[in-house]
Parts: sequence; structure tokens; C-alpha cells
Amino acid sequence: MLNIQRNVPLGKYTTLQVGGPAAYFVEVKTEKELDEAVGFATEKDLQITILGGGSNVLVSDDGLSGMVIRVAITEGPTEEVVSDDEVLLSAGAGVEFDKLVSWATENGLWGLENLSHIPGSVGATPVQNVGAYGVEVKDVIESVRVYSITDRRFRVLTNTECSFGYRDSYFKHKEGSQLIITSVTYRLSHKPKPVLSYKDLQGRFADDAVIPSDIRQAVIEIRAQKFPNWHEVGTAGSFFKNPIIDKDKFTSLQEQYPNMPHFEVNEQQVKVPLGWVLDKVLHLKGEGTERVKQYEGQALVLINKGDATATEIVDHAEHIADLVLEKLGVQVEWEVTRLGF
Ligand code: EPU
Repeated sequence: MLNIQRNVPLGKYTTLQVGGPAAYFVEVKTEKELDEAVGFATEKDLQITILGGGSNVLVSDDGLSGMVIRVAITEGPTEEVVSDDEVLLSAGAGVEFDKLVSWATENGLWGLENLSHIPGSVGATPVQNVGAYGVEVKDVIESVRVYSITDRRFRVLTNTECSFGYRDSYFKHKEGSQLIITSVTYRLSHKPKPVLSYKDLQGRFADDAVIPSDIRQAVIEIRAQKFPNWHEVGTAGSFFKNPIIDKDKFTSLQEQYPNMPHFEVNEQQVKVPLGWVLDKVLHLKGEGTERVKQYEGQALVLINKGDATATEIVDHAEHIADLVLEKLGVQVEWEVTRLGF
């Protein structure tokens, strides 16, 4: 039996800890309940918003007029052995992603260890193609099971069909926005596949003497230096995407800022770490008000120190984006998704 509630404040369901109420709110624990909830919303002509762990969203102070469905399908993990080396590991969209990463690394499976301590749910990982320390989740996603709001059917999308990009996927675009993720299958390996290319991980291990849980431990230590504890402070991790710019533009910036780090994306474009720009060029670490500011440990992370409103967060973020545009002529995009604006 669905427990549909009215006027539920959403702040406690988001890691930024801010946001007005959902007119209708329901938590679904099975695919059947999901279908029932969508049936209810369709009948009442309510716009549907999906919430997972709420770790990458900013909900407006006015809240959401339609129905919020919180996907709490927590089946799994289930393992299917596909070869001597490889295993397909599946989990419900509502499973806490870091619990899955912990389970995989403890069981000696390679593939997810670099993605340790990322807040949020399994179902959110394909949406923004989460990535950290040299690995993006697209590298290990085998398939994604989805439910279509339009035809109310379930189907499975292959990795290719998810059209993954940097913090981007099919699910973020109009065509895919009618799909609700119910479970994700990852292709993991018993064969060692350490990815130690990221600067912070280099030189920590001898390549042949490392196990997945060693890398998980190292990533947890590194992240503890850079990110606030999301159980204590309002945060959504990186607030902005790292801008991808033309090489010509980068060359002119490099003349002014010779130490600017960069990563080649393709022959024409490079990605610039905005955290470096906010810190070294604009000196914004710790800048803002007592309520909303850039984190002292990592300038790309915005924090809600207390009772900031969504409007204050938007104003602060837009101010930062304006400063980057004025100083460097680079347009920055939010990584965080706005809901109800
Ligand atoms: N830097 C500074 N000062 C800062 C922040 C960064 O100088 O205040 C410099 C660092 O020294 C480094 C470079 O900027 O040379 C990049 O910083 P970092 O390695 O911390 O990574 P990032 O580019 O800021 C990205 C992801 C993170 C992910 C890390 C690690 C995006 C938007 N962010 O951050 O992902 O954890 O790399 O791989 O791509 C997220 O998406 O929410 C997220 C946390």
C-alpha cells in the first residue's frame, strides 16, 4: 500500500539540506509500487520528479507542485558470474552507492574502488556519470534497467544507449527524462585492474601489491581532506562542472596563468579544473557568507553552513559564475541539478 503524503519539506531528503515542500511525496520500495505511484500521478495529472539520495540537487524554496517519487528500491547486490574473471553485479536504484562500493571491494572485485565515498544512490550514478580519481562509472556500467513514465513499461538500456559523457547521459536530456532508473548492473573483475593515474593516487602503491580495498582506503583518506562530511554540512560535492574549452582559448589563458592545470579532452578541447581557478585565480576558498560559502578544503565545493535558503545558494553560485566569466571569459555550468525553479 502506497503511503502518499502531502506537503513534505524536501530539505531533509537532499544533502544540501535545503528546499521547500513537495505537494505530493511517496517513497517506493518495489517496481510494482513505482508503477502504482506513476499511475496515481498520471491520473491526477501531476508532474513527476524523481529523487534518489538527493546528493546532486538544489530544490527551490517554493518546493515542487507535482509529485516527488523517492526511489527506495534496495534489492541486491546480486552477482552473476560471466567468466573466470568477470562478474555482473546488480543493485536496486535505492541502494546507497557507497555501500555497494564497499561490498564490491571487500569481495575483491575491481572496478568501483576509485569511486569510494561518493554520496548518493546507485540509481543516480548513471544519470550524471559520476566520476572520481580517474574512473567514471560509465567505464563499468553494463546496463541500466528503467521504467518509462510515458508507456509505463520496463526495459533495459545498454551502456551505449545511455550516451554517457562528462557528468552527462541520456537521462539528463529531454528524450531520457521520462525514464526512471530502477536498477543498475556493473561489470566488475576479479583480475587486478588498478587505476592509479590520478595525481593524488600516484606513487602510493606498488602496482602489483594492491587490492581493491587498499585503493578504497586511499580514496577515502584523500576525500576526507577535500570534502566536508555530508552528514554534517550541507553540500552537493562539486557544485560546478569543470569547463571544457577550446585549445585556442586555453592557450591564451595559459599565457596569463602558466601554472593552470588542464586535461586533454580531444584534439580541439581541454578541461580546466575550476577548483584551481576559484582558488588560485579568484581566491574564493572560504568566501561567501556565514550561511553559504565555498569550502576551505576545496574551492569547487559549495557548503550550506546552516539555514541558507535555496535563493541564497543560487545568488551565491551565480555571483561565482559571473566572477569566472568576467576574469577568464569562461562560462561555467552547474553540476547540481535545479528542481522547481
Ligand atoms: N585545486 C586547487 N584548489 C582547490 C581545488 C582544486 O588548486 O581549491 C586544484 C587541485 O590541486 C588539482 C585540480 O585543481 O590540481 C583538480 O582538483 P581535484 O583533483 O580536487 O578535482 P576537481 O577537478 O576539483 C573532480 C570532480 C570530483 C572528483 C575529483 C577527483 C568534477 C566537477 N569534479 O574535481 O567529482 O571527486 O575530480 O577525481 O568533475 C563531483 O562531481 O561532485 C565530484 C566531487
